[in-house]
Amino acid sequence: QTPAIIAMDGPAGSGKSSVSKEVARRIGFGYLDTGAAYRALAWQALQTERDTSDATSVLEVASDFPFSISLDPDAFWVKVGDTEVTEAIREPRVSDAVSGVARVALVRRAMNAMFRSLVADSGLRGVIIEGRDITTVVAPDAPVRILLSADPVVRAARRSAELTSLDTAAVAVAMQRRDASDAQVVDFLEAAPGVIPIDSTDLDFEQTVDAVLEVVTDIL
Ligand code: C5P
Repeated sequence: QTPAIIAMDGPAGSGKSSVSKEVARRIGFGYLDTGAAYRALAWQALQTERDTSDATSVLEVASDFPFSISLDPDAFWVKVGDTEVTEAIREPRVSDAVSGVARVALVRRAMNAMFRSLVADSGLRGVIIEGRDITTVVAPDAPVRILLSADPVVRAARRSAELTSLDTAAVAVAMQRRDASDAQVVDFLEAAPGVIPIDSTDLDFEQTVDAVLEVVTDIL
């Protein structure tokens, strides 16, 4: 069977990872965190001491990239070869390098092909795919497409609550730098035609999950 796809995009700190993971749990879908794939590639580039701002170096890393990822929202992990990198890919040094890796067009093309086959071969009833260009490039024909946004100040506060050692101002600066860099490559700040915008600025986690579930129930 072809899995039903729910596409969700949004900027850093919008809550899309935690929200889509919880929605996937509740409706029995798989969950694909595409940002984790770009992060793992950036991690691998750093690990092998490549210049993450140089397209040729990045392509070299991408050409031999033994990546695997769990689609199970209850048992999420990311691996490069035999090394589990689930935690390591969230480190600030990776966050700072990932945009450089993600702006290489050939890398994006290879990633998108990989995402589509991961989903197609999953054997799952449905998958929530989450990222920046899912609603527009990876799965523009998905029956449900959502853009999750939130005020930048609120996003920075949520992010710094996750990363306990950093102050909100520093997180806000790093996050805005990454968003600005990412936005040059894909537009995830405006909802494309047919994409449902959900603004979580004034919603808590449960309310955001409910707002997504409301939109999603149509296809279940
Ligand atoms: O979602 P997350 O913040 O973990 O994504 C990390 C980075 O991966 C983003 O900042 C962006 O550079 C890249 N990305 C992308 N396209 C996607 C998902 C993530 O370019 N679909």
